[in-house]
Amino acid sequence: MSGSQCGFEGTVDLDSALRDSCLNQLQDVEISLEAELVDSEAEIKIGYIYWVFSMLYHYLYYYVYIPSFWVFLIGIIWYTVARYCTRLFSRQSSFPSGFYGESIIFGWLERTNQRSVVWASRCLKTKLKYNSQVLDIGFGAGLSFDTMIRLLGESFESHCHENKGVEKAEYKVYGIENSEQMIRYCTEKYASEIENKVLVLEKGDALSMSYPNESFDVITVSNFIHLVKDKNAALKEWVRCLKYGGTLAILFRQSEAYARDAFVQSGVQQGFMFLPQENTLVEILENMDSIKNIEVMKRKVEEGDKDDIDEGDILILATIREEQKHITIGYTE
Ligand SMILES: C[S@@+](CC[C@H](N)C(=O)[O-])C[C@H]1O[C@@H](n2cnc3c(N)ncnc32)[C@H](O)[C@@H]1O
Repeated sequence: MSGSQCGFEGTVDLDSALRDSCLNQLQDVEISLEAELVDSEAEIKIGYIYWVFSMLYHYLYYYVYIPSFWVFLIGIIWYTVARYCTRLFSRQSSFPSGFYGESIIFGWLERTNQRSVVWASRCLKTKLKYNSQVLDIGFGAGLSFDTMIRLLGESFESHCHENKGVEKAEYKVYGIENSEQMIRYCTEKYASEIENKVLVLEKGDALSMSYPNESFDVITVSNFIHLVKDKNAALKEWVRCLKYGGTLAILFRQSEAYARDAFVQSGVQQGFMFLPQENTLVEILENMDSIKNIEVMKRKVEEGDKDDIDEGDILILATIREEQKHITIGYTE
């Protein structure tokens, strides 16, 4: 069919049309390739960012999140256990009771207090006469009883030696405690002394005792004063029960010594919160009219002392006036 037959005039350059169409197609391909290239570059960038974030995530997850989770968990468990033990320990050391009181505290008291209590009892040697009436306040595991009964016995024997005919022991050691557990423990431990009537154990409150005024020649208070909030009232109560010329012996550890003991230190905030300073007690005693003189003794570390806290033992000996001279003088003039 010719060009004139279909109304088309002129010649058609098929080659150039083909070329144009090819060029157009190539251009399209080029454009789509360029678009793809741009797309894949963007994808590479996104992929790279994703990779960085996923690395960061993994790093944080394995090296930060998981370890800190465990650290946190262990910390919580440690804190809870430590808090429980601290409370238990401070509660039990101030008032031993139940299973723990029996199984742990006796052993702990005996281990930590034995040497200091024996030292303090020995310091009282000259005060323990053949007929002395001695009271141990808050006796706990009864660590003072052996030494005091032995020293009183020796004093009694030498008195018998000098005074023929004396047969019956007149001395006696009393103990006051508010823990049933401790009373039961000491009743078994000192059964023969109780039977021989040289030891009397009673349940009662050390801060409000039922003993009449001027009942005792010596009162000992060992490792107890840190449990007493109102030291003024407690000291007055103990002095009330002492005879004229009697001695109040207070044994305690300096707070610095407790501070060296990590285990005790952990309980300082509760059971040991009323730790005294030596000066505080001396000041209170000095302000009492009935006190004649005060002596402060410090224990030196001996061979065999293992605990750091042994170094801080302080014994305050306060002697009551023989009689209230300041009153009689007024009347005689
Ligand atoms: C830390 S322990 C010392 C025991 C002993 N004196 C010693 O040195 O090993 C304190 C004791 O005081 C007793 N106690 C605490 N409060 C008391 C109170 N208000 N009256 C009597 N005893 C008390 C406790 O039961 C405990 O046995």
